Amino acid sequence: MLLLLPPWVVFAILYFQVVGVSICGGEFSAGELDSLLQEYAFGAFVRPRTGVVYNATLPVNLTGIEVAALRLRSGSLLRRGVSRYNEFQIPAGVVVQPYVVRLVLVYQNLGNFSPDYYPVPGYSLLTPVLGLLAYDAANLSATNLSELDIRASGEPISIRFPNVVSGRITPKPKCLYFGLDGSLGFDNVVNGSTCLTNFQGHFSIAVESSISPVPAPSPSPATPAGGGGGGGGGDRKREWIIIGSVIGGLLVLSASLLAAGCIRKCLTRKRMRRMEEAAESGVALPMATVANTRAPVATGTRTRPSLENELFVG
Ligand SMILES: *[C@@H]1O[C@H](CO)[C@@H](O)[C@H](O)[C@H]1NC(C)=O
Ligand SMILES: *[C@@H]1O[C@H](CO)[C@@H](O)[C@H](O)[C@H]1NC(C)=O
Ligand SMILES: *[C@@H]1O[C@H](CO)[C@@H](O)[C@H](O)[C@H]1NC(C)=O
Ligand SMILES: *[C@@H]1O[C@H](CO)[C@@H](O)[C@H](O)[C@H]1NC(C)=O
Ligand SMILES: *[C@@H]1O[C@H](CO)[C@@H](O)[C@H](O)[C@H]1NC(C)=O
Repeated sequence: MLLLLPPWVVFAILYFQVVGVSICGGEFSAGELDSLLQEYAFGAFVRPRTGVVYNATLPVNLTGIEVAALRLRSGSLLRRGVSRYNEFQIPAGVVVQPYVVRLVLVYQNLGNFSPDYYPVPGYSLLTPVLGLLAYDAANLSATNLSELDIRASGEPISIRFPNVVSGRITPKPKCLYFGLDGSLGFDNVVNGSTCLTNFQGHFSIAVESSISPVPAPSPSPATPAGGGGGGGGGDRKREWIIIGSVIGGLLVLSASLLAAGCIRKCLTRKRMRRMEEAAESGVALPMATVANTRAPVATGTRTRPSLENELFVG
């Protein structure tokens, strides 16, 4: 049956299957992965020195992910920043809240796991998802820490992604910002491969993937001047194409609904947890990062604040 469908329909079905499975079947949520990676990152500190990047060793089943930890005094972060922390460049002026004497900046490169933990329907990631998260360094054996809030008050933090061939790609690639509260923001890429942010979180560059541009049925060359038999065969073929497209369309529709349901479920779960945490630590509303401003997000809203072309940073 599948073979009768036009190739794009089969492709779309497979796409939704993969997206659906990876969203629903992942062993952890993104927040749980953050928590696990925090533990491994802190584990990399053996007699830690301030200002030195330590690469963490991860178990075999997380091969492909890279994690590092950097311990800093918050005063030094504010006054000097970090000129280079893998792809991140942190300028002076980054404020940590609540105040801690020392903090740990955990770096994540999710490698092949990126689309599993940060799927964005309608977009394909061009780069791995990179993360930068701040934690209190008071107890380096602590687990299940919640993130500190860091905010660039002057220049933004920049993330330079290597190997983005953005010049030739249409539509134009976008920077994606995944907030810790599950929010998603978009912004323009600067200098071909750099994204700018004022907050911590997860970042990637992605391009809109046109999964279902319905190809116009190729107009059959008007009644061939040849034999009588050929016309009948063409009609039957067209019939099959129509039937196949209708069935395929229905399958795609149900697959999309399924995927949308899964995404909603996951996001709600994640959001609930973040809100519980926020409630405990006394933080107000979940906030979404949109370009350089922070906007409160109503939890039930499905449209997220996003920014297309209104603002070009840099
Ligand atoms: C840590 O990992 C980064 C990125 O993979 C690499 O460039 C760096 O050389 C590593 N540092 C050490 C000390 O292994
Ligand atoms: C990796 O394996 C360990 C046991 O060796 C298990 O506890 C952990 O949940 C696994 N992690 C993932 C991401 O599969
Ligand atoms: C640090 O955290 C670990 C694990 O939560 C805990 O067992 C230990 O008592 C803590 N140490 C201090 C000094 O708070
Ligand atoms: C981690 O902390 C959250 C609250 O901040 C709590 O609900 C959860 O049970 C903790 N998980 C573990 C494994 O301790
Ligand atoms: C973009 O590139 C120019 C020239 O290389 C550089 O001066 C500028 O700082 C870059 N901007 C960002 C935001 O990285």
